Amino acid sequence: MDFKNILVTGGAGFIGSNFIRLILHQKEFNGIIINVDKLTYAGNILNLKDIEEFFGGKRYFFEYADICDYEKIKEIFKKYQIDAVVHFAAESHVDRSIYGPKDFIQTNILGTFTLLECARLYWNKTENKRFHHISTDEVYGSLGPKGYFYETSPYIPASPYSASKASADHLVRAYYYTYNLPVTLSNCSNNYGPYQFPEKLIPLTILNIIEEKPLPVYGDGKNIRDWIYVDDHNRAIISILEKGKIGQTYNIGGENEWKNIRLVNKICEIIAKETGKDKDYYKKLITFIKDRPGHDRRYAINCDKIKKDIGWEPLISFEEGLKQTIKWYLNNMDWIKTITTGKYKEWIDKNYRRR
Ligand code: NAD
Ligand code: DAU
Repeated sequence: MDFKNILVTGGAGFIGSNFIRLILHQKEFNGIIINVDKLTYAGNILNLKDIEEFFGGKRYFFEYADICDYEKIKEIFKKYQIDAVVHFAAESHVDRSIYGPKDFIQTNILGTFTLLECARLYWNKTENKRFHHISTDEVYGSLGPKGYFYETSPYIPASPYSASKASADHLVRAYYYTYNLPVTLSNCSNNYGPYQFPEKLIPLTILNIIEEKPLPVYGDGKNIRDWIYVDDHNRAIISILEKGKIGQTYNIGGENEWKNIRLVNKICEIIAKETGKDKDYYKKLITFIKDRPGHDRRYAINCDKIKKDIGWEPLISFEEGLKQTIKWYLNNMDWIKTITTGKYKEWIDKNYRRR
């Protein structure tokens, strides 16, 4: 790995925290990580408790900041002599973007713009520098029953979330073409794994099963998503940092398509086995509800390019990844309580927000 001082944005979120844990434990990386996070409802500093204890002040530094704050981000670039940015920070939940798009426009578009400006102005020499932007397959819109998303697929975002991510992608590419900023981009499918905020389908279903609450399934439940284990996504990002070509976009996917209803049934079965209940015990909780407006029907990623050019491929089977994830939630009810009881919010208000 050529980079020494990596600025990770949104590192207290789901994918970002797993990324920081993965890279700091890799023997090929001996640099430092600076985690810039605003700690929104989705950012949880406790996601990195082990990292803070082991690497804090030596190879891991947390900076409580908003990526839209130009002066603060500029200061961070200078203070740590940043040579690479791995940009995860975003408002990430489609449903929330439908109820309130403003924060999505602010963070996902203006925040990305602010980071690009800081990188452009701070890096007067662009050798051995990198701006890696994390994006989503949702920018490509919706597929019919056949076909895949390629890096060359047209952008047809359908939600305020995906439209904001699409705008950010365009800005990142514009900075490459206009200013020669050394960028790479990746567009990934649905992630799952430990530390995912329980508003997304898999952790929400797990937690509702534990509490025997209704399991909401939108519409007819036949929408399809392509699921990838979070560490497989993060290994792909590390590989792109090492071997990616400047200006290029890489699609990342699990090659693992599931109808939502089939997935929810599968989670019910795995948890029933864990808790010694009858195979169908939790399925009675499944409740079909009104569909999400603009709900994309099917996502499926073709990831031949990253496989061929970089040599990455997903390693964790869905069976294994799902079991591990469910176990993690069952064994980490304290983490869940910190989110759901408001104790975490109080703690953050006391320790960070009043600074
Ligand atoms: P998340 O919601 O779990 O975490 C987002 C993090 O960004 C949080 O820690 C939050 O506090 C931080 N953040 C938000 N606004 C900020 C701001 N203005 N300044 C600083 N920090 C801010 O999201 P995630 O699921 O981990 O997703 C991370 C990235 O990956 C996003 O860019 C998302 O679009 C992309 N992505 C996610 C998935 C997925 O399935 N979750 C799939 C493909 C791409
Ligand atoms: O595809 C990548 C995207 O995956 C990321 O860019 C987003 O940040 C991430 O949130 C995720 O978006 P989705 O909308 O696909 O994820 P979510 O978990 O919200 O929903 C997955 C599917 O399940 C989707 O078809 C909607 C459906 N769903 C979701 C919830 C929360 C339900 O049926 N019931 C639910 O309660």
